[in-house]
Amino acid sequence: MLFSSSLTKLALLAAAAAGVIAGPTARGVPAGFVTTKGTQFELDGKPFAFVGANSYWLPLLLTQTDVEKTFSTMAKAGVKVLRTWGFNAINDTELAGAKESGLTYYQVWNSSTYALNTGSQGLERLDNVIETAGKYGIKIILAFTNNWVGYGGSDLYIDWISGATTHDVFFTDSRIVSAYQSYVRTIVERYKSSPNIFAWELMNEARCSSDSFPSGPLCTPASGAQSLTKWYKQQSDFVKNLDPNHLVTTGGEGHFFWTHPRTYWSNGQLISDYNWNGQAGEDFDRNLQIPNIDFVTYHLYPQSWYPELDFPGSNWTAASWGLEWISDHINAGNKANKPVILEEFGVGGLENKTEIYPTWVQHALDTKHAIMPWQFGELGLTEDGGNRIIKYADAILNGASPNDGNTFYSNQTAVWNIFTRAAKIQASRSL
Ligand SMILES: *[C@@H]1O[C@H](CO)[C@@H](O)[C@H](O)[C@H]1NC(C)=O
Ligand SMILES: *[C@@H]1O[C@H](CO)[C@@H](O)[C@H](O)[C@H]1NC(C)=O
Ligand SMILES: *[C@@H]1O[C@H](CO)[C@@H](O)[C@H](O)[C@H]1NC(C)=O
Ligand SMILES: *[C@@H]1O[C@H](CO)[C@@H](O)[C@H](O)[C@H]1NC(C)=O
Ligand SMILES: *[C@@H]1O[C@H](CO)[C@@H](O)[C@H](O)[C@H]1NC(C)=O
Repeated sequence: MLFSSSLTKLALLAAAAAGVIAGPTARGVPAGFVTTKGTQFELDGKPFAFVGANSYWLPLLLTQTDVEKTFSTMAKAGVKVLRTWGFNAINDTELAGAKESGLTYYQVWNSSTYALNTGSQGLERLDNVIETAGKYGIKIILAFTNNWVGYGGSDLYIDWISGATTHDVFFTDSRIVSAYQSYVRTIVERYKSSPNIFAWELMNEARCSSDSFPSGPLCTPASGAQSLTKWYKQQSDFVKNLDPNHLVTTGGEGHFFWTHPRTYWSNGQLISDYNWNGQAGEDFDRNLQIPNIDFVTYHLYPQSWYPELDFPGSNWTAASWGLEWISDHINAGNKANKPVILEEFGVGGLENKTEIYPTWVQHALDTKHAIMPWQFGELGLTEDGGNRIIKYADAILNGASPNDGNTFYSNQTAVWNIFTRAAKIQASRSL
């Protein structure tokens, strides 16, 4: 339902001024903005169920032809929501190379403050992606930074501002929090009036540790620090004060902190499972309670999370593990009466995808929640003749977007059809 009376707006403004913001269901928003109602999303007062796509590389494309081509394929596949990165940061030592290769960059670090690039190789590219999305009826979940090194994540803030050697300082050092917030402010102010934004995402896969740094002793819920939950609360309040109309989410992997975590057997030993014992830093149930977190995300990669269990004859299967993981998140969302999104999931290899995805997708559809496979692939990209090294191992090869093993393309019809079929079912629920 839409509350558009000026009374509601005044109440919201007063609440915002007082630092207390009305809950996610009681918001009056402009036309075309997504809201939540209980565990479901709504668009202009009607149910909004969807299949989404992940494509972090879209703002890295060099030509409008390729951007349009990608959105057009997504739209034909029934994709309604795209998740991509709202960050691309480099060290100044990379600047010359970036200029030469055409690499998209928004922040350049060369001291304890970064330089913002609003130019044609900077935020103008993101502007264009967000604007083009609207032409194809697609809304964007935009992440503000990365837990991981990819495309200049949180560790660059740590390197340049604090020099600390543990990753958890990202969540607690007030100088780092200010720098993060100054970037967040730039992005939010830039797009806050756009109906093409589905939601703001505080960080991709926040954890107490990263790929460069370990965690300090005080970060996890078990340590009593609850650093991630506190950070989510602080940042979601910050974003809602800037923009009360768009949804805000975590971007987390969805780890639980259960009193009695799930366990598994490995080499005859019963192991307390990392995904349920809070060791990574998140507490999914508490994150659902944060007032300005409108919905919470979770990810699903059993093959890379449990490589030691993935062998013939083990007690374990990726398919059934995934079903349990989905159920646990659905139950948590139902308990908190907020939506959850299966925001990333993937397995390697075409056969595994064809075999495993239908059961996961069906379970998600049966429990009425949105899914966003990792990751959407595009064929026939034309820039640099269809071949370009972007950064890291990311490359466009023979016109195909980067393939990390989880990418699926329209030529892989058995996999493609799983998602186009699901998109049709979701669309039929959105009328
Ligand atoms: C960026 O520069 C900082 C400071 O020189 C350095 O510590 C860090 O390793 C660099 N990071 C990357 C990703 O290049
Ligand atoms: C980074 O700082 C150094 C030292 O102040 C300066 O020489 C260099 O030009 C700066 N690089 C950029 C890209 O601003
Ligand atoms: C399978 O589970 C049983 C307990 O149910 C355990 O004793 C055994 O070690 C497990 N096997 C493997 C290969 O993990
Ligand atoms: C497919 O799944 C099997 C069993 O889970 C796994 O061992 C294998 O590595 C997967 N294939 C690819 C290409 O990832
Ligand atoms: C689909 O395209 C990808 C990327 O170019 C290629 O690697 C793959 O072999 C193709 N698959 C089929 C089934 O044609």
